[in-house]
Amino acid sequence: MSLESLRYSRGSLQVLNQLLLPQLSQYDPVTGVRDGADAIRTMKVRGAPAIAIVGSLSLAVELTSSPPQQTADLLAFVRESLALLVGARPTAVNMKKAADELSAFLAEEAEKPGVTAQELTDSVIRWAESLLEKDVKDNRMIGDLGAQHILQTAGAPGGVVIMTHCNTGSLATAGYGTALGVVRSLQAMGRLSHVFCTETRPYNQGSRLTAYELVYEKIPATLITDSMAAVTMRERQVTAVVVGADRVVANGDTANKVGTYQLAVLAKHHGIPFCVAAPSTSCDLSLPTGGSIVIEERPGQELTDINGVRVAAPGIGVWNPAFDVTPHELITAIITERGVFRPEELKDGLSRGL
Ligand code: MRU
Repeated sequence: MSLESLRYSRGSLQVLNQLLLPQLSQYDPVTGVRDGADAIRTMKVRGAPAIAIVGSLSLAVELTSSPPQQTADLLAFVRESLALLVGARPTAVNMKKAADELSAFLAEEAEKPGVTAQELTDSVIRWAESLLEKDVKDNRMIGDLGAQHILQTAGAPGGVVIMTHCNTGSLATAGYGTALGVVRSLQAMGRLSHVFCTETRPYNQGSRLTAYELVYEKIPATLITDSMAAVTMRERQVTAVVVGADRVVANGDTANKVGTYQLAVLAKHHGIPFCVAAPSTSCDLSLPTGGSIVIEERPGQELTDINGVRVAAPGIGVWNPAFDVTPHELITAIITERGVFRPEELKDGLSRGL
């Protein structure tokens, strides 16, 4: 059985509390939108796709337990709920895109002659539920396309060595993962030699979550600190760096977990391909360049304290941006469920077939 970031059945949602991993595997109930927004803000659940799915399903469970009687009440409730959920974490675009799509869908459904509030409520619930299956399907496609791309780029037969950052696996999605999905596909093809995962300070998504997934899946892997990336690239024959994304904009600039940018700079220096693996739901073609992406800043305590114990010198100032933007010139490929694109091909590639 693979790891599950969430458990859902109609009317019931639980999220794996990622603040407690790897020591404790505990699922916490999410009974409605406020709980959902709290789980996202406090990072009980995190990772761009998982944020959108948990947010949308928290709306579904609240609608299941307290269905509005009037259409106007439903529309107002959905509008206010989506605003709360989108505001919970600003950098990942997935919740915002889900909110825009759901709002457009609901507006269209509400126009249908004679439609009742109950029917509309059911449609919203089904819409949210459909995200689960779609995400896993998209991730499997990303995994397979990404694995093929990396093997082609590597050229030589035999196993490849992947470096990854943050957590992009089952815990960050509805299942399988994006960058970690590429790793899983390589492993399934028998072509994965080794994975290096960075610790990913300050929240330690790498050492707490990715390492947990890699051990769980028996994938050959080694944990390094973020500051060991350069020496690892030089001395451990890294074939490619593969990371996820919180927002990829029209020119290919990519916001992802802080530390991604430095890996891209290092990969360029060492002549190693740098790949972003992300579903099209993480792509925001409305922004031309990465300069206008809002970067979330988190509490300084995430740097100064470990498990509630102060480790930094008292009185020191702290800057804690949760993400950075990797310029498109440093990215060799953007792997989506719709194809693998060079940054300059992304906009046209994703627009085709829309
Ligand atoms: O702060 P987080 O843990 O939500 O950041 C997660 C990342 O940056 C991931 O790399 C990104 O969301 C892609 S998850 C498939």
